[in-house]
Amino acid sequence: MASIFGHRFRVATFGESHGPVVGAVIDGCPAGLALDVDAIQAELDRRRPGQSALTSPRKEPDRVEVLSGVFEGTTLGTPILLLVRNVDARSADYAPQKDLWRPSHADFTYDAKYGVRDWRGGGRASARETVGRVLAGAVARQVLATAGVEIVAWVDRVADVEGHVDPENVSRAAVEAHPTRCPDAAAAEAMARCIEGARAAGDTVGGVVRCVARGVPVGLGEPVADKLEADLAKALLSLPAARGVEVGSGFAGTRLRGSQHNDPFVAVDGAVRTRTNHSGGIQGGISNGMPVVVGVGFKPVATIQQKQATVDREGQAAELEPGGRHDPCVLPRAVPIVEAMVALVLCDHWLLHRTSRLHSAD
Ligand SMILES: Cc1cc2nc3c(=O)[nH]c(=O)nc-3n(C[C@H](O)[C@H](O)[C@H](O)COP(=O)(O)O)c2cc1C
Repeated sequence: MASIFGHRFRVATFGESHGPVVGAVIDGCPAGLALDVDAIQAELDRRRPGQSALTSPRKEPDRVEVLSGVFEGTTLGTPILLLVRNVDARSADYAPQKDLWRPSHADFTYDAKYGVRDWRGGGRASARETVGRVLAGAVARQVLATAGVEIVAWVDRVADVEGHVDPENVSRAAVEAHPTRCPDAAAAEAMARCIEGARAAGDTVGGVVRCVARGVPVGLGEPVADKLEADLAKALLSLPAARGVEVGSGFAGTRLRGSQHNDPFVAVDGAVRTRTNHSGGIQGGISNGMPVVVGVGFKPVATIQQKQATVDREGQAAELEPGGRHDPCVLPRAVPIVEAMVALVLCDHWLLHRTSRLHSAD
């Protein structure tokens, strides 16, 4: 069962939802980075449950511990182990469901494949696994900052409520201004009402997170097997509840004519740019210097607070009673997780690119 992402900046996540710890090991982080542990903690704080009325009420303090790979605040180039301890697991809440399969969750497929499953809080299929991704992503983000790359994600749609956000200008501060993490104030209010309404009805809603990476240099990604968009899509689709990934104008762009969809080149201060960005900053698998823009669709949370018909491990019909603490909508908490996966892929390709040719272009 693979838990490793990346080619050069490789990350293994570990830990179960109700086990003692969750975290990540980074293999391949360059030596010499002055690691900002407070910045890692800030990313965890954006991901953790219990941060607002719109999320799961599980109360995890999620304090980062850096156990290896850093000496006197600077990375050594050796494996970096980052973890947090689980402190608020209530496994007894899940015991009545341990032999029942929650519809559209991972229970049935996991059992069918492995024959053994940690049912407490969803085990490895819990979004708790993404703690490790956020920890490693926060380090990747610091590596990328040395190259001038900045990554901002936001909630673009919840159910049918759509925000209107300009990827060129959206800021972290605007995203964090509302608990929905939608920087369009009017849409954010409507999204909050939609999530609260779903929760009150014992139901859940899905939507779309969008993410922009600005300052991405030309040349990240490769033309065939390791296309930048292919690695982004795999990383983002590996997130729990992710159902689709778009690059640039994505599926909407497929409705356009080539004459509308092409991004004309322009020279700006001696650099090559494009006037529009339907390509989402990637052409031929390689970044073109424009902002990299991706969207991720997340399904409505599978665990609803309503009785549901299901079957048990013996294949007998059964009724599932709601149990455990759950998010009515993953979108607000998915924002830092999407940023983390984009950071991991861009950091990986930024490091790979540094060995891609013998003679530099200049
Ligand atoms: C931030 C986040 C929070 C989540 N919270 C829950 C939750 O509270 N309850 C739940 O059933 N699923 C939750 N999920 C989704 C499940 O982990 C996911 O649906 C499950 O692992 C099955 O995988 P799949 O949906 O990708 O097929 C969450 C996902 C994310 C990204």
